[in-house]
Amino acid sequence: MLRPRHAFLTALLIAVPLGTAPAQNLDSLLARMTLEEKLGQLNLLSAGGRASPQQIDLARRGFLGGLFNVIGAENTRAVDRVATTESRLKIPLLFGLDVIHGFRTIFPIPLAEAGAFDPELAEATARAAGREAAAAGINWTYAPMVDIARDPRWGRIAEGSGEDPYLGSLLAAARVRGFQESILATAKHFAAYGAAEAGRDYNSADVSERTLREVYLPPFKAAVDAGVATLMSAFNDIGGVPASGNAWLTDTLLRGEWKFGGMVVSDWTSVAELIPHGIAGSRAEAGRRALTAGVDMDMQSSIYVDSLAALVRANQIPMAVVDAAVLRVLRAKARVAQLRPVAPNPVEIRALARRAARESIVLLKNEGGLLPLDRAAPAIAVIGPLADNRLDALGPWHTEGKPEDVVTVLQGIKTRVSAATQVLYAQGVGIEDTSTVGFADAVLAARRAKVAILVLGERHDMSGEAASRATLGLPGVQQQLLEAVAATGTPVVLVLMNGRPLILEWAAEHVPSIVETWYLGVEAGNATAEVLFGDVNPSGRLPVTFPRDVGQIPLYYNHRNTGRPTSAEKFTSKYIDVPVSPRYPFGYGLSYTTFAYRDLKLSAARVGAADTVKITVTVANTGTREGTEVVQLYVHDEVGSVARPVRELKGFRRVTLKPGETRAVELRLAVRDLAFYGLDMRPTVEAGTFRVFVGPNSAEGLEASFEVIH
Ligand code: NOJ
Repeated sequence: MLRPRHAFLTALLIAVPLGTAPAQNLDSLLARMTLEEKLGQLNLLSAGGRASPQQIDLARRGFLGGLFNVIGAENTRAVDRVATTESRLKIPLLFGLDVIHGFRTIFPIPLAEAGAFDPELAEATARAAGREAAAAGINWTYAPMVDIARDPRWGRIAEGSGEDPYLGSLLAAARVRGFQESILATAKHFAAYGAAEAGRDYNSADVSERTLREVYLPPFKAAVDAGVATLMSAFNDIGGVPASGNAWLTDTLLRGEWKFGGMVVSDWTSVAELIPHGIAGSRAEAGRRALTAGVDMDMQSSIYVDSLAALVRANQIPMAVVDAAVLRVLRAKARVAQLRPVAPNPVEIRALARRAARESIVLLKNEGGLLPLDRAAPAIAVIGPLADNRLDALGPWHTEGKPEDVVTVLQGIKTRVSAATQVLYAQGVGIEDTSTVGFADAVLAARRAKVAILVLGERHDMSGEAASRATLGLPGVQQQLLEAVAATGTPVVLVLMNGRPLILEWAAEHVPSIVETWYLGVEAGNATAEVLFGDVNPSGRLPVTFPRDVGQIPLYYNHRNTGRPTSAEKFTSKYIDVPVSPRYPFGYGLSYTTFAYRDLKLSAARVGAADTVKITVTVANTGTREGTEVVQLYVHDEVGSVARPVRELKGFRRVTLKPGETRAVELRLAVRDLAFYGLDMRPTVEAGTFRVFVGPNSAEGLEASFEVIH
C-alpha cells in the first residue's frame, strides 16, 4: 500500500468518523476561505512535466486547485508540499493526467480493447494503469473516454469503445471501477463529442434529445452509477449550446435528474472557447456561463481565477454557485485522501498487457485457411512500415509508455519461427511516403517467401485528438505496396495497425487473410505473432462498423429502418453506386474454428413489464481447434410509438469451446431494459412484439420473438 500524501485532508477525515462529518469539515473549511482562494480551487493548469515557478507561486498563494501533466512522484510531491505546508489553508492539489490506455505499461487502445467484449478485462487494465499512475504521484485520470462514435473520420474514435451504447456502458462502468481503486476517474467528454459533424474534431453536434439520451448519454449514466468522481465537459456545442456552458446538460440533467454529486471539469480551454463559439463576448462572460452552468473546474483558461471575483462581488454570479463548485472540488480531494493505491506489480501488468492484446485482435478474413501459418515454413517475408515499428504500436495517448518496451511484429515473428525458417524483412515504404523506391526489396522478399505478412496502417498520431481524416484508405502509397506484393502471387496476410475503421475494399476482395490489430501496445508483436502462428485463436469482434466507402458514413448497425428499407426496388433507401451494407458489420470477427448456433429458445412467449426473459441457444464448436465465440443478443421492437432501431445489442457472452464441444448458453433479458424514450421523452416499455436475434454478429443470427403485455 502507498501512503496517502495529503496529510491535511487525511487528518480532516480521520479526526471524525466518516459519513456526514467530513462534509461538515469541508463546510467549515469553505467558511474560512476568501473569494480568491475559492476561485483558486477551481483553477486547473497544465504543467510541462513539473510545476513551473509561477505555478508553484499560485499553489503557495492558494490560487491553484490542481495541476495536470506533472510527471513523477518527486515532482508531484514537490509542488503538493508547497500547497499543503506553505499555503494559508494547506489544501492539497489534484494531479491529473490522461491515463487512457496505460500509464507506463501500454495496453491496447480502448477501441481495440472494446473488441474483446470483456468488461472484466477492461476493469483489470484500468486498475493496472491506475496503480502505475498512482505510484507516479497521479491521483486523477481523464479517462474513461466514453464517447459513442459512429464516424471513423473522427480520430478520437480510437479512445472510446466504439458505436454501441450497451457495450460502451458496460465498459465505462468497468473502467471507472478499475481506475478508482487507486485514482479518481473522469467520464468524458460530456456530451455528444462523438457526434461531431463530418467527423471533424471540435465540430458542432446536432443531435435530438432522444438520440442524445439513447445513444450518447448511456455510457455517462453508467459511469455515474458506477461512482465516477468527475466528468469532463466537451468542446462541442449541441444544437448551438456549447457543452462547457450548457446548464441543461451539467445542471438539470447531470445533477438534477441523475443526482451526480461529483465534480465537472472543463476540457482544455473550453471555458475560454465559449467566446469563439459565440455565446460569450468576454472572458468574464465565458466564465460566468460555464460556472453557472455547473462546470466546476476551469482547465487551462485561467478565467475563473482571473476574471470572476469582480462578477461575484457585483452579484452577477451568486456566491452559492461558487461555494457549490468549491465544495465539489474539495470533496474530490477528500476522496483522493481516502484512496489507498495498490503498488503495481510489473510482471503481472505485463502479462495482463499480453492477454489484452491477444483478446483485442480481430480476424477479418481467412480465405482457404491461410492462417494460422506454419512456423516451419522455409521463408516468411515480413513487410511494411509498421512491421518493425515500436512507437506507432503504442497508439495515441501512450503517456509514459516507452518505445523500447514494445515487442514489434517482426520480433514476435522471429521468436516464433523454427530455427530453419528465414525471416525476410523489408520495410518497403514509410507510412506516408509517396516514393515507391523501397518496393523492389519488398517484392523480392515476397518472391523468395512462402507467405508475405504485410503490416500496414496509420501512424499512431493519425488518430486521437485533432486527427480527423477525410479519406480512410491506407495512407501514402501503402495500398500500392500491398498490390505490388500481392502481384508476386505469394499469399499475403495483411496485418493492420490503425486507430479507426479503414476502407479496405481492395484488400477485402484480393487479399486472402486480414488481421485487425489496432494499436495493441507493448505486447503488440507477441500477441500478433501468437495469432499468426495459431498459439492464440483470435476472438476479438468489431466494436464498430467498417464501411465500404467514406460516402456511407455515418454507418452503424443500430440504425432505424426508414419507410423505404433497402431492396432491389429503385425508390428505396440506398446508393446507386455503393451497396448500403457495411464491409464488416459491428460484432463481426472470425476464428480458426467454426461455430454453429441452434435451438434458440425463450423462457416465455408473453411477458410482463417486471419479467426477465431467459434466452438459451446451443452453440457448437464445429471445427478442429479450441476457440472462443462472442455470443451476441440483439432485439428489435417491431412497432413503437417511436421508430426503434433495426437491432440493439442487449447482451453477450464469451464462450470457449473445445473442438466438437456443444454448450447451451443462457442470456437474460430484463423487460425493463427494452425501455426507450417515448413521445413524451419518458422511458417506456411499450406492449407488443419484440424480435430476438442471437448470433455471431449484428448481421446474422437465429431469430425468435416474444410479446410484452401490460
Ligand atoms: C484535451 C482533450 O480533449 C481531453 O480529452 C484531455 O483530457 C485534455 N486535453 C487534457 O489533456
